[in-house]
Amino acid sequence: MSNNLVTVAYIAASVLFILSLSGLSHQDTAKRGNWLGMLGMAIAFLATALLCQGYPIQASAIGLGLFVGVVAAARVAMTAMPEMVAFLNSFVGLAAVLVGFAEYLQPSTALGGMDATLHRIEIYAGVFIGMVTFTGSMVAVGKLQAILPSRSVLLPARHILTIAMLVAMVAFAFPFLSATGSEGLVPLGVLTTLAGIFGIVIVMAIGGADMAVVISLLNSYSGLASAAAGFMLNNDLLIITGALVGSSGAILSYIMCKGMNRSFINVLLGGFGEGASNPGQRAGSAEQATATNASEVVDLLEAAQSVVIVPGYGMAVAQAQHAVAEITQILRTQGKQVRFGIHPVAGRMPGHMNVLLAEANVPYDIVLEMDEINDDFPKTDVVLVIGANDTVNPIAQEDPTSPIAGMPVMEVWRAETVVVVKRSLSPGYAGVDNPLFYRDNTLMFFGDAKANINGVLAQLSDQVGRPVATAALSAA
Ligand code: TAP
Repeated sequence: MSNNLVTVAYIAASVLFILSLSGLSHQDTAKRGNWLGMLGMAIAFLATALLCQGYPIQASAIGLGLFVGVVAAARVAMTAMPEMVAFLNSFVGLAAVLVGFAEYLQPSTALGGMDATLHRIEIYAGVFIGMVTFTGSMVAVGKLQAILPSRSVLLPARHILTIAMLVAMVAFAFPFLSATGSEGLVPLGVLTTLAGIFGIVIVMAIGGADMAVVISLLNSYSGLASAAAGFMLNNDLLIITGALVGSSGAILSYIMCKGMNRSFINVLLGGFGEGASNPGQRAGSAEQATATNASEVVDLLEAAQSVVIVPGYGMAVAQAQHAVAEITQILRTQGKQVRFGIHPVAGRMPGHMNVLLAEANVPYDIVLEMDEINDDFPKTDVVLVIGANDTVNPIAQEDPTSPIAGMPVMEVWRAETVVVVKRSLSPGYAGVDNPLFYRDNTLMFFGDAKANINGVLAQLSDQVGRPVATAALSAA
């Protein structure tokens, strides 16, 4: 393939990536955004593959990658998507490290003078970012899979340790830059080890609700690692793609930090919630919580004029979205106002709830963000909280010593009646008990979200003489 054709292909792919990102910023254009991104990647991939030598090696690598990728993507549950993203981020980091070593041992272009020094700096920076991304992402996977403790794990004197590691990594850059032959492998090896430990230490220190931000931040780092690999390999498309991933990941992390009322630095310093007033303490006794059942919930919904549904992680686990969409449709047919309130970090990944509701064909215009709906709760008759917990916890506003103090939450308790669907009084992801469950206007509808919502749907359908749609039945 001629270089000109490759350039044209790279420009086309870059434009498609930008259009893809723009499409992904709205629910109704997200599918198109995905397709554009895939098309861009296919073009980029083909152009790069045709440009390179060694087709048999490429073919076997592509075959293996395709197999692993397709199997992993087909099998992964929606709720395990953050782990998958973190896992894939780690591959990008590792690839950047390997490219760094390969470029050091056998540079793809012969450089001299200042250019050679700049190339060494690119290698050093690329290996650093790549290794931090690799080990940090692996720790994140371990935490999300509960192989490692999900709370923040703080080493004694960790700030001194991390600063000492950073200083050592900068110091080892000098012998690396002036090394000749394979001498530089020693400082590069030291950098790789220290950067690996650095990644582990910083991500181990982050826990609880902050993991979401960390995944997105590691995603941003993986973009920087790709851009670094692009500089090393002199590949413009890799630089552009890396910059897009790096900047969009950073913007997403910023939005999430805002959603949790935290600062970047505060998240990165870790230790969120450590030393707070007993996070495991119960805000009330089981007797103080009022239990309800399907027929009571149906009566409440029938009497209500305005209903807000606030879904959370439990709805995703139970896969209750189809039944929820059915109930929504029935209530809307009866002329009631039914809307969804989505917290920016509900579930386990950005946009988690939106994806599930879109899958169940809930109209986009009734799915509102937290800021759009919070002021409407006092005018709402019934709020149906389905498997959400931290995101509806009033303690975030009431107890400044709580680990989630300051996190903006859905103010569901301001509605006339709140029905919380979950299996027990257990806390959510952040491990903080929720006083909402014991409030006078809260009814606890204990049980699996799908079973409970299906129970409500069955009775509601009976009352209005409407058969339950196949989607909800097959999801049952
Ligand atoms: P959580 O606070 O995690 O609470 C989910 C609740 O769902 C649990 O308390 C659980 O209670 C219930 N549940 C689980 N399985 C259920 C089932 N089958 N049926 C019914 N209920 C079920 O959820 P949230 O309000 O969505 O908050 C999300 C949390 O995750 C936040 O702390 C957020 O910071 C964090 N986080 C978010 C992300 C992103 S980006 N969204 C990523 C990582 C972490 P029972 O056990 O009593 O049923």
